[in-house]
Amino acid sequence: MKVCIIGTGYVGLVSSCCFADLGNDVIGVDIDDEKVAKLREGISPIYEPGISDLLKRNLKQGNLNFTTNIKEGIESSDIIFSAVGTPMGQDHRADLSAVMAVAKAIGKYINGYKIVVNKSTVPVGTAEKVEAEIKAAMVENNLSFNFDVVSNPEFLREGAAISDFKNPDRVVVGAKSERARKLISKLYSGIVRTNRPLVFTDVKSAEMIKYAANAMLATRISFMNMLSHLCEKAGGDIKEVAKGIGLDSRIGPKFLQAGLGYGGSCFPKDVNAIMMTLKDYDCDASILEAVESINQSQRLHVYDKVKASLKDLNGKTIGILGVAFKPKTDDIREAPALTLVRKLESEGARVKAFDPEARETTEKYYPNLQFVDTPYAAAKNVDCLVVCTEWDTFRTLNLEQIKEGMKSPVVVDGRNIYDPEEMQKLGFHYSCIGRK
Ligand code: UGA
Repeated sequence: MKVCIIGTGYVGLVSSCCFADLGNDVIGVDIDDEKVAKLREGISPIYEPGISDLLKRNLKQGNLNFTTNIKEGIESSDIIFSAVGTPMGQDHRADLSAVMAVAKAIGKYINGYKIVVNKSTVPVGTAEKVEAEIKAAMVENNLSFNFDVVSNPEFLREGAAISDFKNPDRVVVGAKSERARKLISKLYSGIVRTNRPLVFTDVKSAEMIKYAANAMLATRISFMNMLSHLCEKAGGDIKEVAKGIGLDSRIGPKFLQAGLGYGGSCFPKDVNAIMMTLKDYDCDASILEAVESINQSQRLHVYDKVKASLKDLNGKTIGILGVAFKPKTDDIREAPALTLVRKLESEGARVKAFDPEARETTEKYYPNLQFVDTPYAAAKNVDCLVVCTEWDTFRTLNLEQIKEGMKSPVVVDGRNIYDPEEMQKLGFHYSCIGRK
């Protein structure tokens, strides 16, 4: 099938490579010349396991191409995906300007029946606005063609994006017309299986499902972070609690890890956006208000632990293990580590950090943050070491060597990766989240 994907960010790039790999003819469109030039050379602008191979292979086979020419992308395709960003606006709502600009371009360059698929995370009712925008642009350009607007939200996780795309729990498609349903079924036929179904629904439910999924997962995390405080005060171990409730098949074990709180480009933005939509419709948003507020304070809870150990932070040196918002990514958007770094620096502490992948992205936005080459260098001569991201490599460090290098053996484990008993035996002054 001839597929155009507008926006080569995380979702757009992974979708472009994966749809091409399934044998479709894919053209990825982006307004960023530099990015498109790199993509054409097979250079991925993001760190994502497996993406470079997929990109290079499909470019070589000739079924994947990139352009800055949106007209060419629209005219040459039957199915047009809109995968542009919907960042959090000033008012905490999703900013739809890029989505509407794509709709306008489609209405201007449409040259036959098209299926317009919205993959970006957008509030309920956006497909109707997109449809109206395309129609208005067609009128302006004296054009008249049929088209369908479909909602097909993406559930891929950074760091596991390709396997999530190829082995999804489900593919959600909100579509009105039978024609659109048939073509989308064909497009996904290489992916969906009986136990991984293609779920057809109405457009508005599909739009809602995306926010509901992210908000539910964020709620689980804040719920566990809330209980971790009770464990710290009343006793109990949050990891044991997570295990105990996770074995209940109605609850399940995932997204129950207490820690520094959630970050990234999705949960913080999407919790805020659905909260605003609820308010816009005069619905109670208090659960999500609590989810968001617990998440904010959880970052500072880790700061409080550092402060409790070191008392005065002025002139102290703190080592940070992990800056990315989670492991297996170089993404630092809304990374809890950076909130902590800013707070520590504002109290006069000096900070040095190590992250296996996020150095370049961090240095781009925070050139003053001192980065070192190894976890051991991050621990060298510091008054306190804080684990902010649970990279696997941190779990297997030689902790004796870490301790020897430190000025004072204080470790605050914001992701609960070490065993408290073992850390105490090794002579660390160790604190973590929701366990002693
Ligand atoms: C999330 C969703 O999981 C995807 O399904 C969705 O497609 C994506 O957002 C999106 O909307 O585009 P992602 O942001 O890549 O994916 O990351 P997650 O793996 O979901 O983690 C989000 C945050 O929650 C991270 O900061 C992570 O450290 C935190 N987290 C996760 C916890 O604090 N505890 C947990 O138990 C799990």
